[in-house]
Amino acid sequence: MKGIILAGGSATRLYPLSKAISKQIMPVYDKPMIYYPLSTLMLAGIREVLVISTPRDLPMFEELLGDGSRIGMKLSYKVQNVPNGLAQAFVLGKDFLNGEPGCLILGDNMFYGQHFGRMLKEAVATVESGKSTVESQKSKEESRGGAVIFGYEVADPRAYGVVEFKEVTGYGLQVIGLEEKPAEPKSNYAVPGLYFYDETVCEKAANLQPSARGEYEITDLNKLYLAEGTLRVKLFSRGFAWLDTGNCDSLLEAGNFIATIQNRQGFYVSCIEEIAWRNGWISTEQLALLGKEMKTAYGRYLERLAAKGS
Ligand code: DAU
Repeated sequence: MKGIILAGGSATRLYPLSKAISKQIMPVYDKPMIYYPLSTLMLAGIREVLVISTPRDLPMFEELLGDGSRIGMKLSYKVQNVPNGLAQAFVLGKDFLNGEPGCLILGDNMFYGQHFGRMLKEAVATVESGKSTVESQKSKEESRGGAVIFGYEVADPRAYGVVEFKEVTGYGLQVIGLEEKPAEPKSNYAVPGLYFYDETVCEKAANLQPSARGEYEITDLNKLYLAEGTLRVKLFSRGFAWLDTGNCDSLLEAGNFIATIQNRQGFYVSCIEEIAWRNGWISTEQLALLGKEMKTAYGRYLERLAAKGS
């Protein structure tokens, strides 16, 4: 599966911080924000990634991440001239996906928690199973590709996409409805900016119409899967962290959260070089070299990992 990181927009809620630079390049404690969504894709086993951003900001991401070969990945870049909606990722990313399934993550969405990698790999397997649908006459739940989205309980979901669902015996959770930023949410489950789709996604995205606020909404794309009966929702548990970086307070809190976990446990959160190494995409020697290049605690961490070998 391939992945797309949408890292554009103007982030006016962070002004003046974001007036001259991209929000998704800003530090979240010791690393640029985009490392976090990139690490999520890597944990899902996704090696080929398209980064989409504004004409102004895209060169910065290219400078930061290059072609990805240093971490055993293949990265490419695409401009979004106007930030007219998240679903546009699949119009801009059509050639990149080339008729294959795809995962979209928003460049400002950060996740941290136990068994996350397993959940991601399950989502990949679910949507990728689409092609074998017809040949194998499995049950509906198993056999369709469709889409996987996630639900995360929040106190106030009005600023998010919101998912309503019920539990159906032998089926799991069945989505009943989806709404984008509802004034009166029907549930407390927000939909994080992480979506897995089968190979029909670009075709569906191409047929969307702009919403009342003039955007190609990701929620409308998800509604097409819902109408088709192939939208699945998986819930993140209580101890799981989905961090927001929308304003100065949440950005600071996210940084403090990462610092607290890292300093307490000694393990780095969303360290892309470490994940590449653990995935077997780079050798221990390459990891040590990447560490040596950085005269920081981050560099020493990579060298320590390489020396320990596990
Ligand atoms: O964070 C999860 C939420 O993200 C979901 O629950 C909502 O359903 C989804 O619509 C989205 O809501 P936001 O209000 O956070 O969307 P926003 O317009 O702020 O865009 C999210 C990120 O994507 C932001 O960092 C900017 C970037 N972006 C946005 C648009 C509309 C782009 O790169 N291009 C765009 O065209």
